[in-house]
Amino acid sequence: MTDIPALSIEQKATLVAGATTWSTHEVEGILPALNLSDGPHGLRRQGPDGDNLGVGTSLPAVCFPPSVALGATWNPALAEQVGQALGREARALDVQVLLGPGLNIKRSPLGGRNFEYFSEDPRVSGTLAAAMVRGIQSMQVAATPKHFAVNNQETDRMRVSATVSERALREIYLAAFEQVVREAAPWAMMSAYNRVNGTFASESHRLLTEILRDEWGFDGLVMSDWGAVDDTAASVAAGLDLEMPPSGRAQRIVDAVDHGEIDESVLDVAIERLRRLAARTTGTEPIERDVDGAQEVALQVAREAATLLENDGTLPLDPNAHTRVLVVGEFARTPRFQGGGSSRVVPTRVITALDALRDLAADEVSFAPGFSLTGESSADLADDAVAQAHDAEVVIAFLGLSDRAESEGFDRSDISLPADQLALLRRLVQTGTPVVVVLSNGGVLEVSSWREGVAAMVEGWLLGQEGGRALAEVIYGIVNPSGRLTETIPHRIQDSPSHDTFPGADGEVLYGEDVFVGYRGYDTRGTEVAYPFGYGLSYTSFTYESIEVVPHSDGGWGVRIALRNTGDRAGSEVVQLYVGAESSAPARPVRELRGFTKVHLEPGEGTHVHLVLAERDLAYWNTRARRWQVDPGLYRVEVGSHSRDIRLTETVHSEGDGIVDPLRMDSTLAEWAAHPAGAEFVARMREGIPAEIAERAPELVAMVQSTPVIKLTTWGLGLTEQMVRDVVAASGGDA
Ligand code: BGC
Repeated sequence: MTDIPALSIEQKATLVAGATTWSTHEVEGILPALNLSDGPHGLRRQGPDGDNLGVGTSLPAVCFPPSVALGATWNPALAEQVGQALGREARALDVQVLLGPGLNIKRSPLGGRNFEYFSEDPRVSGTLAAAMVRGIQSMQVAATPKHFAVNNQETDRMRVSATVSERALREIYLAAFEQVVREAAPWAMMSAYNRVNGTFASESHRLLTEILRDEWGFDGLVMSDWGAVDDTAASVAAGLDLEMPPSGRAQRIVDAVDHGEIDESVLDVAIERLRRLAARTTGTEPIERDVDGAQEVALQVAREAATLLENDGTLPLDPNAHTRVLVVGEFARTPRFQGGGSSRVVPTRVITALDALRDLAADEVSFAPGFSLTGESSADLADDAVAQAHDAEVVIAFLGLSDRAESEGFDRSDISLPADQLALLRRLVQTGTPVVVVLSNGGVLEVSSWREGVAAMVEGWLLGQEGGRALAEVIYGIVNPSGRLTETIPHRIQDSPSHDTFPGADGEVLYGEDVFVGYRGYDTRGTEVAYPFGYGLSYTSFTYESIEVVPHSDGGWGVRIALRNTGDRAGSEVVQLYVGAESSAPARPVRELRGFTKVHLEPGEGTHVHLVLAERDLAYWNTRARRWQVDPGLYRVEVGSHSRDIRLTETVHSEGDGIVDPLRMDSTLAEWAAHPAGAEFVARMREGIPAEIAERAPELVAMVQSTPVIKLTTWGLGLTEQMVRDVVAASGGDA
């Protein structure tokens, strides 16, 4: 191979941007061209002149359930299978780099792209995304986790600056990315459109180099989101290796090198990373597509994603009984199974719920569309559906959001079902025939105002091309639902912790709720919600029989839970492990998810579930010290079925991480007293203060406790600045 330095600066500056919208440059003997393609839930393989809006057509590919549904499975093994199947599709179609998974945090239920993300919780997001990355890369195709970082809204996404505290950044918005990098070592990463605390993510040396590479050990290539680069030279300098699609601004980089703004070696490093990516993904054996296998995986995800929210016993229907079933709702015939935008896939086929129900039912299933998805008046359609409902024994109403209501590129302004569907539902319920509601939506919906009247509710998310079959199987009890919420469903959008500051204005969005995102906020404040994080019903029941927490020799704990299926059907439970600090400064969420596992049990069967709690799981981000910190003290280890259904609790004691940070020049008297280097000094000072003062005015003592010691040098206590400097220096601090 030719050495990189043999290239001119102009050539190098050209190589660090794509050749076309979907490929990189080829340089004989140095770099093979690489093909890139969306996306997270199916391959959107276009020709070189394609677009990144999901407008132009692409080769048919299996449309898996988007991440909103994959998340609801809480099943990393399935996510890995999706990754493998996607990787296989990619490799068979000559794609070396797959643009996914997307793992931004669902900060607000209004987020237009929530369908493309896993959860409001970083542990769920990180675990599922890591599994998917492993699966994709097992096929020698690069995964590209995106959008790094803090891209949690669509409003003004190419300009807005997310103003976020360092602690929220670390604990919430970077945590899933960190987990993916550490556990699955992705070969690529996509930087986000937005700014973070004033700096474009694509120009942030801190994000792209210091945190991603230096701290977490990422050794892959960073590419921009499509059109995210503002200043090409600043991006390259920050650690962005590939600008996509090419903007033709290579000259700006050449000038920057000429003027000494950036060093030429930065380009060499970027090109070296391109070569590493090529080495990892090219020269592989040809592979055949396996469309049948991929469709099977897509179906399995849909089966495990469907989430049962209500059931008065109407479900499951008996497929052998002669029941007069009426299916209402255009979505049963024209399913909404994926979201809009760059991730849109041309499916290999689409199975509708109506066809699938008719396949399974013993008798003819009637159908009434009930409403139109094209915006036309639905009055006649609704009248017809209601008339038919009077004669039915059960109504299955397929309601939801159309493509117009949610998509990449814009956020929602409310979380209601469309008015015509709500009016229809009210009339259906009034007929007295039991109504089972099946929902299709990417972002959560308000259900509190209408759920009372319905017999059952299945949250069907967006279930991919095979979803109709999965829904029919759930309705007829061939599949026992095991989906769980990865996002809280609030009573009202106003209850959402981020509501007051989402989506910001004038180019800035303040993340005012800090680390109290999603259930961390609702649960800590005790806000009533419609359905809590982790919630989902089953046709069977599970009993948590016992919990045992034992220390590990390496510092963490092993958590052993005895679980039993106490119902009369086989089913799966998602065992969730939460941790909460008994007392803490700073304020922390009342509980945070630290582990989970999905367990399948036959009726009456019991098992032991093992989960691991690492020492780091007790940590919070100490902003001052700029590090993770574990305080000594008591921690609640809670195990349960959702965040508000904790079945078993144990308490563990941690010694803390034992790290003592140096004193600073502005450390308070209380901080000195608690510090090995300051305690003796404080004790001596105390000796000099007459005891009666402390007795007479305890508030004075309290006041002085919170005063920086350096300020006390002017208070006539005989304390000098030099004395303070000496103690700070002795503690290892900057004096
Ligand atoms: C999206 C990315 C996508 C890219 C290429 C962008 O608009 O934000 O997620 O991978 O387009 O289609």
